[in-house]
Amino acid sequence: MKLKEITINNFRNYDKLNLKFAPGLNIIYGKNGVGKTNLVEAIYLLSLTKSFRINNDKILINYGKVQASVEGDIEKNNDTSTYKVILSNEGKKVEINHNKVDKISDYVSKINVILFNPMDINIITSSPSERRNLLNIEISQIYKEYLIILSNYNKILKQRNFYLRQLYINGNSSVEYLEILTTKLIEYGLRINQYRQSFVDKINKYISKIYQDIFVVGDLKVKYVSSYNKKNAQEILAVYKKYYSKEMACGKTLLGVHHDDLVFTLDNHPLKECGSEGQRKNAILSFKLAELVVIKEIKENYPILILDDLFSELDKEKINNILSLLNNEVQTFITTTEINRINKKILKSSKVFHCVDGKMEEEV
Ligand SMILES: Nc1ncnc2c1ncn2[C@@H]1O[C@H](COP(=O)(O)OP(=O)(O)O)[C@@H](O)[C@H]1O
Ligand SMILES: [Mg+2]
Repeated sequence: MKLKEITINNFRNYDKLNLKFAPGLNIIYGKNGVGKTNLVEAIYLLSLTKSFRINNDKILINYGKVQASVEGDIEKNNDTSTYKVILSNEGKKVEINHNKVDKISDYVSKINVILFNPMDINIITSSPSERRNLLNIEISQIYKEYLIILSNYNKILKQRNFYLRQLYINGNSSVEYLEILTTKLIEYGLRINQYRQSFVDKINKYISKIYQDIFVVGDLKVKYVSSYNKKNAQEILAVYKKYYSKEMACGKTLLGVHHDDLVFTLDNHPLKECGSEGQRKNAILSFKLAELVVIKEIKENYPILILDDLFSELDKEKINNILSLLNNEVQTFITTTEINRINKKILKSSKVFHCVDGKMEEEV
């Protein structure tokens, strides 16, 4: 899939911007703080309707303005459609071909974007919720129904936690309703578990080879850890029952896919505890590149790839290993402060944009 053209209004430090992109490699270079990440953030917003940097949409609107929008023409299977995300103080609106789409879940799985940003390096060392977040974002852009199941799970989880607290406060020992909620939670949780397991299995088919192609040595694997793994609904319910009194005492659901985690290992050693910063960065980058192939396998189209500021800590050889791995069917956006680190031959076959304080100059 290709982003042919983008029109940005009042987004971050851009006032009005219209750019036409190459179907292959697009390079955006410029000094720090000029708006390179803002541009790729706009592309990400167009795809996933939110930023990868912040949760508060209002901050994305150009200072002093009341509304921002990003519109893009996406070509997929020889067909072009126009997508648009509009942010304002009243909330968010999304449109496909100028028609309003009411449910976000009817929008987000249409444009696939894989983004690597230097902040991703923290995914491996931060809390499990960051790694679940990674799984949720990626799986929901592949399977439309995943987001719906996830939101159903979270609704039941809330109700269950509330009821656990009620049981505790009222000293009421009736667990009938708790069992109904638990059964529902398990039903949605098992489906989430299956999606996550199958996604991680697919990633593992490719990730080790990608890691070795770029960084030469090391066997990288990702393990999906979940209390639901390899259990059926009855078995899981039996475990919950053992936890009921404990859960009532703390008013929280102690078991479930909201505690799932991912463990990255290099040569069987966990990267969180044993890896170097460089190895962790390489692992996340390999994960994202593996996703490219997984999404192509499932959706039959390559996603759009964004490598934001990737080169800042890589040597020339690794940069060129990465660039030569990229299939020329993949539309790629690379941002960098150091244009001279990219091979001249590669530059010649790319579209190059020079970013200067909210303006973009196309170089010919
Ligand atoms: N809502 C906003 N309105 C106007 N400018 C903004 C807004 N949000 C961020 N900026 C500006 O964007 C710039 C950072 O852009 P960014 O794309 O992160 O830079 P870089 O080129 O280093 O990737 C900063 O100068 C910041 O002040
Ligand atoms: Mg940046």
